[in-house]
Amino acid sequence: MVLYFSATGNTEFIAKRIANGLNDESLNLLKRIKNHDYSEIHSDKPFIICAPIYVCEIPNFLYKYLKNVKLTGTKQIYFILTSGGYSGIGKHYCKRIARKQKMKYMGTTDFKMPRNYIASNAYPLLSHEENVQRLKDSISKLPPVIERIKEGKKIKSRYVWQFEYLIIKPFTPIWIKVKLRSDKFYSTNECIGCGKCALVCPFNNIEIKDKKPVWGLTDCTHCMACVSNCPKEAIEYGEITKGKERFLCSKYKNDIE
Ligand SMILES: Cc1cc2nc3c(=O)[nH]c(=O)nc-3n(C[C@H](O)[C@H](O)[C@H](O)COP(=O)(O)O)c2cc1C
Repeated sequence: MVLYFSATGNTEFIAKRIANGLNDESLNLLKRIKNHDYSEIHSDKPFIICAPIYVCEIPNFLYKYLKNVKLTGTKQIYFILTSGGYSGIGKHYCKRIARKQKMKYMGTTDFKMPRNYIASNAYPLLSHEENVQRLKDSISKLPPVIERIKEGKKIKSRYVWQFEYLIIKPFTPIWIKVKLRSDKFYSTNECIGCGKCALVCPFNNIEIKDKKPVWGLTDCTHCMACVSNCPKEAIEYGEITKGKERFLCSKYKNDIE
């Protein structure tokens, strides 16, 4: 069974294709994460965990969820990471999840996907053509991965150097605390109060008050789910997101199929 979390659709794009290729089911974990639902998920086929990379790691809320949810049936667990090109030490967390679940770690593979992060000027979004190319490249990388999973073989991982771990491990929590704040999010006059932002927030950090979203100040990982899924593009992060195109993988559907 393929389990995934996806804020802007990249991970879902890969997860669904893997599930199709394996003739297996896929399960979006968003509702379970929001409801703190750790109840049993059973599969007789291997679990394939698909996760995005945030700040060189598997996002902490997802890591915690995957460590604690009750997975039963198969003893094999695979990991698929999607990133903008650098999956950092994500693989370390995959191994830890496998250990905690007492399952056989069957490897991690990462896919380079379109960039989705617009709340910083440091990582400009790619052009439409570049995004299409990344998605096509990912599609062409899928068959050998699916084949190995079908054959019960391990999938290959990028080598993670010890120095990456030593740098990233202390750096990430500081970066998250300083940079990934929620106090600059607000909705513009375009907001219709539909509440979609609240529905897609994995932290339940958005409340709709007087038909407008209000962000809590504690939990946010800048996953871009609220910003990208707003049907009116009415969510901004300070001045930084103004005028920028919102990324949603589903916008590329017609270019791929
Ligand atoms: C908060 C945040 C941090 C990110 N950090 C990284 C990173 O460290 N390395 C990287 O290559 N991509 C990074 N990305 C890009 C995402 O990993 C990539 O776009 C991913 O495929 C998004 O998956 P989703 O659409 O399923 O949410 C980051 C994106 C966000 C929103």
